[in-house]
Amino acid sequence: MRKHIFNAGPCKLSDMTLENTAKAVMELENCGQSILEVSHRSKDFQAVIDEAVALFKEVMNIPDNYHVLFLGGGASTQFGMIPFNFLKKKAAYVDTGTWSSKAIKEAKIMGFGEVEVIASSEDKNHTFYPQDFKIPTDVDYLHITTNNTIRGTEILKDIDSPVPLIADMSSDILSRPVDVTKYAMIYAGAQKNVGPAGATIVIIRDDMLQKVAERPIPTMWRYDIHVKDGSMYNTPPCINIFAIRETLKWVKSMGGLKAMEDLAIKRAKVVYDEIERNSLFMSPVSPESRSRMNIPFVWTPGNEQYQDAFMDYAKKCNIVGIKGHRSVGGFRASTYNACSMEDVEALAKCMAEFEKQVKNK
Ligand SMILES: Cc1ncc(COP(=O)(O)O)c(C=O)c1O
Repeated sequence: MRKHIFNAGPCKLSDMTLENTAKAVMELENCGQSILEVSHRSKDFQAVIDEAVALFKEVMNIPDNYHVLFLGGGASTQFGMIPFNFLKKKAAYVDTGTWSSKAIKEAKIMGFGEVEVIASSEDKNHTFYPQDFKIPTDVDYLHITTNNTIRGTEILKDIDSPVPLIADMSSDILSRPVDVTKYAMIYAGAQKNVGPAGATIVIIRDDMLQKVAERPIPTMWRYDIHVKDGSMYNTPPCINIFAIRETLKWVKSMGGLKAMEDLAIKRAKVVYDEIERNSLFMSPVSPESRSRMNIPFVWTPGNEQYQDAFMDYAKKCNIVGIKGHRSVGGFRASTYNACSMEDVEALAKCMAEFEKQVKNK
């Protein structure tokens, strides 16, 4: 029996992604080879990557002056690649938790320029998303993390920026319509809403390629090279790109990003409503900043002793992946696109039943 999967990433994928990828492992579309065997230079694979790019552009409404890349190295490699390519004098960062802090750390490593943190939620333990921060005009770019996977905060809007805006959308890409024109670059590790772990999506505006710094940059770290070679300067993650294509087909068949957003709102409501109702649990996140994708919840004071018992009970209810990140504790339900209403209803029921058991003791 398939479990109710709330993993933070890798995470639940659509049945369509799983079934079609499983088929392609046996044979890629009548080509007599598995997707694991086929050459990335073959026309069979070229058709797969071309369609994945085209679907990304269609589903996210990406204008023609943007390129879509599938790279290796995870979103974490982007933390270093961005300053290597674009940091000349000064860059601005918004610090909203673990992942943006890592991006800031990497930006400082090479000492290419000043790194200014223009807004931060650190003073309140990253439990809110800073609003209306002032963006300096003398920086090479502004970097934001649109959804904070660990802390469970999300920006949920596309901000106007006078400087190139670069966004880590690893954990909320494809979960709502985004105005791509507001961004110079969007990147995301695939392993949440897009596909299995092992590919990173980069959506980059063409003019950014002219802004690449004139310094020696390792070839694999150059965006212009990856654009020129259509994500195939080296061997790309072929099966991941196949699975991404299938996920995009699924998103399209479900009604696109507006439908994804509506479902995300409904799923998140089920979980947040139960957290609010249940006397055992509370949300550590400010209501206006609450993420639809990652929902942390902790014990109300005095109930921490039930941690193990609740984890055992959740296991009995076929629920996996709700253990909170070690830096926050408690629990976290990741309710990405492929998570269903049945999954969130099962979680809410499990929480309610556990409360009854505790009260009846
Ligand atoms: C928002 C965000 N950025 C970056 C990363 C790092 O991604 P990767 O493991 O692909 O390097 C993660 C991973 O969970 C994330 O959630």
